[in-house]
Amino acid sequence: MLSGKNVLIGITGGIAAYKICELIRMYKRNGANVRVICTPNALNFVAKLTLQNLSQNEVGVDEFEVSDFKPEHISYADEADVIVIAPATANTISKIANGICDNLLTSIVCAFKKPVIIAPAMNCNMWGNPIIQENLKKLKAVGYQICEPESGYLACGYNGVGRLCTLEKIFDKTVEALHAKASSGRKVVITSGGTIEELDPVRYISNYSSGKMGLALADEAFKNGDEVVLVTTKEVERPYKVVKVKSALEMQNAVNNEFDTANVIIMAAAVADYRAKNVAPQKMKKTSSDEITIELVKNPDILKELCDKKAVSKNSPLIVGFCAESENLLNNAKEKIQKKGCDFLVANDISRKDIGFSSDYNEVTILDKNGNATQLERATKTEIARLILDYIK
Ligand code: PMT
Repeated sequence: MLSGKNVLIGITGGIAAYKICELIRMYKRNGANVRVICTPNALNFVAKLTLQNLSQNEVGVDEFEVSDFKPEHISYADEADVIVIAPATANTISKIANGICDNLLTSIVCAFKKPVIIAPAMNCNMWGNPIIQENLKKLKAVGYQICEPESGYLACGYNGVGRLCTLEKIFDKTVEALHAKASSGRKVVITSGGTIEELDPVRYISNYSSGKMGLALADEAFKNGDEVVLVTTKEVERPYKVVKVKSALEMQNAVNNEFDTANVIIMAAAVADYRAKNVAPQKMKKTSSDEITIELVKNPDILKELCDKKAVSKNSPLIVGFCAESENLLNNAKEKIQKKGCDFLVANDISRKDIGFSSDYNEVTILDKNGNATQLERATKTEIARLILDYIK
C-alpha cells in the first residue's frame, strides 16, 4: 500500500509513545520508508535505538546536528510525503497551532506543505480543556487531519477520553492521505479468496485461494480513486469497505447488495461449485464403514447470475470474471466467457506453482466478448491488477 512513500513519524512525550514502535512496523511492512523525529521528551518514554532499528533510519531529535548545507528541518520537510504525529501531546498540538518552532519536530511541521495527521493522547482533563480544543479547531481549519482519541482507562489513572486511537485508524488515515486522488466517481466491487463450505462444525470444503489477486485489484482500484468494496473470505483491514463472508451463499448475498450502485464488478474469488446438502450440526463421528458419502448440491453461479441480472436491470455494471484452469486454458476460457456472458474474462493457469493460487505472481490472458485475447506476462499480482484495471477502463 505504501511502497515508494516517505512517512515521517513525529513522536512527542507521552506514555503512548511505546505503541508507535508497532506503527513503524506497520508502515515498513507496507513498503514505506520511515523516518522518526522525536521531541526531547519523547525519549523519556521510548529508546532512540529501538526507533532507529525499527525504522532502519537515523532518528532526528536535535535541530542543530548539521549534516548538510540545508537546515535539517527543511531537508526532512522536503523529503516526507506525509507527517504523522503520534502520540501528540497537548504541548506539541498547541505549539503547532500557534506557529511555534522550538524543536526539530515543530520546525519541520511549520515548513511542511503536504498532509499532516495528528493523533492526540493525553489526560482526559487536558483533552477537555477549551484552550486545547480551540487549538485543535485551528489545526483542523487549515487542513490538519486529527485521529480523535478514544475513551477508556488512561495511564494516569483516570477513565475518560484521551487514549491514543488504534494504530489501524492512524495507518488507514495515512494510506488515505497518501492516495487521496480525486475521486474517479466509479464504484468497483471485487470478490476475493476461496469460499468455505461447512460439512460440520469442524470440517469444510475450500480451495487454495489466498485472496491475494482480489486484494491487489482492490488496492489498485483504491489508489485510482475508485470507491472500493471488497467482498472477501479473508481477514483484512483496509481503508475502504471490506465485507467479510464465508460461503458462496454469503458471497452471493453480499455482491447482490452492491449490484445496484456498482459501476464495475470483478469476480476474482474462487467460489466452490458445490456445498454440503446437509451441514451436520455436531461433529461427524467415525463409523465402522471404510467409506462415507457426502451429498453435495450446486452452489449458485454468482457470476452468471450477475450477468443475467445486468441484461434486465436499470444498472449496467461492467462485469469481469476470472477463469482458473489446469488444462487447455484458452479454449476453456473462450467457452466460459460465452457461458457466463461477462464483459471480460481473466484466465490464469492454476496448475503452475509460480503463478495463480497463493503465489505473489500471476500471468493472465484477458478475453473480451468479441474473442480478442490479450496476454499479460508474468508479473507481481499488484502489477497484473494495475494492468487489468487499465485494460477494462
Ligand atoms: O486468491 P489467490 O491465491 O491470489 O489466487 C487467485 C485466483 C487463482 C483464485 C484467481 O486469479 C482466480 O482465478 N479466480 C477465479 C477462480 C475460479 O473460481 O475460477 P472458475 O473458473 O472456477 O470460475 C469462473 C468465474 O466464475 C470466476 O470469476 C468465479 O469467481 C465465478 N464463479 C464460480 C463458481 C460459482 N459458483 N460462482 C461464481 O461466481
